[in-house]
Amino acid sequence: MKHLLKISDLTVAEFEHLMTLTEKLKGETKAGKIHHLLSGKTLGMIFTKSSTRTRVSFEVGMQQLGGYPLFLSSADIQLGRGETIYDTANVLSRYLDGIMIRTFKQSDVDDLAKYGSIPIINGLTDDHHPCQALADLFTIYEHKGKLSGLKLAYIGDGNNVAHSLAEACAIAGMHFAVAAPEGYTCDAQIIEAASERARQTGGSVTVTHDPVEAISDADAVYTDTWVSMGQEQEKEARLKIFMPYQVNKALYAHAKPDAVFLHCLPAYRGFEMTEDIIDGPLSVVFDEAENRLHAQKAVLATLMG
Ligand code: CP
Ligand code: NVA
Repeated sequence: MKHLLKISDLTVAEFEHLMTLTEKLKGETKAGKIHHLLSGKTLGMIFTKSSTRTRVSFEVGMQQLGGYPLFLSSADIQLGRGETIYDTANVLSRYLDGIMIRTFKQSDVDDLAKYGSIPIINGLTDDHHPCQALADLFTIYEHKGKLSGLKLAYIGDGNNVAHSLAEACAIAGMHFAVAAPEGYTCDAQIIEAASERARQTGGSVTVTHDPVEAISDADAVYTDTWVSMGQEQEKEARLKIFMPYQVNKALYAHAKPDAVFLHCLPAYRGFEMTEDIIDGPLSVVFDEAENRLHAQKAVLATLMG
């Protein structure tokens, strides 16, 4: 494993290694163990979009592993003024031991990996959010004791988060069902590849426009904002289109009675889900947010250690 650009790049063994290491590092951190796995190493963190969880969890994670996190806002670095990815990758590879980047185009992240000589971690693009999916599946594992054979229903926008979840569920042998409005469903190629992978692991991928069909008998229910970063001008139209996909009590009644609720956050109560769902007893959203820290430490230790 050289980079984390998207979940589908991982082998089953690499995915399982990350889950196991996440559990170990989380346990050790809770027990007060001090790590020096990345002593003397520096992670550059490039952000061209906003972030609370990704920035803080990577920054704290590096610090907890004995390394140094360097925040690089695109407003401050020359990349934001048109310096090429090629030059940026070559220059930063001379200073840093790894880069985490959050940006718009997946191809920019792929190009950083292609032209640079250090590990690149995707901290969210328009198409993928791999760190999120690792934390999400680890959270489901913590609450359910297994992953293989479980059903995860994703209701709402077929976006970056949905893509990474589809790919992760396929690797883990889970049943992934996504319900999205027409014109807002997942990328066909990503779904096709995930379905193919799921066939090999005993999982499955289902795409529908019917939220009841997707959520029926689910072990875990997931939603995300209807308006992702970069789509602000579509907000008004999207809020109308997605309303029938709101995760509320009536819809949730079709899931298994103990189905956990996940959301990558930030969440907008009264839109993609009602308050009683996200703040209710089945919600694990803050465990999920915490697990970003532990899962990313596993990624950092694996790639940069
Ligand atoms: N879930 C997530 O990536 O949150 P941030 O946008 O706050 O980083
Ligand atoms: N789909 C959302 C996720 C935010 C963490 C976005 O891209 O804005």
